[in-house]
Amino acid sequence: MHPQNSTLLSLFLFYLVATIHANDDQAFECVDIYKQPSLQHPLLKNHKLQITSSSKRTSSICPRGMVPIHKLRNKVNSNFARDAVNWATLDTKTESKKYHGASAVVSIHNPTFSGKDTRAQIMIENGESPQGINCIVFGWAIDPELYGDNMTHFTTYWTSDGFQKTGCYNTKCKGYIQQFSELYAGKPFDPVSTYGGQQVVANLSIIRDGDTGNWMLTNYGALVGYWPKEIFTSLGSGADTIRYGGVAVNGAPMGNGQFPDNGNDLNKSSYFKDMAYIDANFQKQPINELEMNVNVPKPNCYKLNYLKDQLTITYGGPGGSC
Ligand SMILES: *[C@@H]1O[C@H](CO)[C@@H](O)[C@H](O)[C@H]1NC(C)=O
Ligand SMILES: *[C@@H]1O[C@H](CO)[C@@H](O)[C@H](O)[C@H]1NC(C)=O
Ligand SMILES: *[C@@H]1O[C@H](CO)[C@@H](O)[C@H](O)[C@H]1NC(C)=O
Repeated sequence: MHPQNSTLLSLFLFYLVATIHANDDQAFECVDIYKQPSLQHPLLKNHKLQITSSSKRTSSICPRGMVPIHKLRNKVNSNFARDAVNWATLDTKTESKKYHGASAVVSIHNPTFSGKDTRAQIMIENGESPQGINCIVFGWAIDPELYGDNMTHFTTYWTSDGFQKTGCYNTKCKGYIQQFSELYAGKPFDPVSTYGGQQVVANLSIIRDGDTGNWMLTNYGALVGYWPKEIFTSLGSGADTIRYGGVAVNGAPMGNGQFPDNGNDLNKSSYFKDMAYIDANFQKQPINELEMNVNVPKPNCYKLNYLKDQLTITYGGPGGSC
């Protein structure tokens, strides 16, 4: 079923625990892949580590056998009650369908920042009640409270109880398991796309592994990390909804901070392209316009163009007071 978007998104924001930047020279530390904190999650007592299958079982930024884990920061609590959450997404609308994954090539931007936070993400979810919502979210975010800077970071999130007691960003709690990869949850992106020039993208995909039931996150087909099936309830069997697009809080810019008014010129728009999902039979399918719903509650603030033939959305906006 589809929960009210506003309820879902405000819950999402409400249960964040934000953090402040500590003084450090790099954003990650290297940890033995078998000793990463997530593996001590009580639900993972009998979990068998699923490991990068290729011969390249090493991350070039860490010594052999170790994976990069984003550094935890001091916690601060902030008042989310008054946050104004906005979004422009393309969502699946078939409620009876099961999805075993989703993928897109996502452009990466660092607009001049104001407001609270801004995200470009793919969200897969399942769950019958607000408290039963299971979801996995991944993409990029600018979130000074979370990261202590205005950079654009690769960002993941999960919950298995509608953002109440379970789940968190990146590796701030036990659950997400990092693999040998240069890309890690929390990593800052530098460089980013330039308007009218070079575009920097991530080629992201999540696939529910048919054998283990784990949700595997890849970039350019290479394993980045995964969410073990044990930490979920309803997502254990698949997702019922996928949402692709932007979320901006308290007037933050979305995407590259521009309206997507440049036709099909992807050098001047923030975009998701090659949009696809993994169907109930574990086959990759291009998104189908009959099954998609443009979800843009405030088109004066943030816009989204669905370029159906190109399996692409362009989206974004300057934010501010609107
Ligand atoms: C982020 O940008 C805002 C507005 O430009 C500025 O006020 C703030 O100090 C910046 N924060 C950080 C952590 O750089
Ligand atoms: C976009 O930029 C690339 C190089 O960065 C260039 O090859 C391409 O022609 C540009 N496309 C448009 C429509 O300007
Ligand atoms: C994205 O990655 C997939 C492999 O997962 C590959 O087939 C595809 O060509 C890539 N697309 C781009 C634009 O790099």
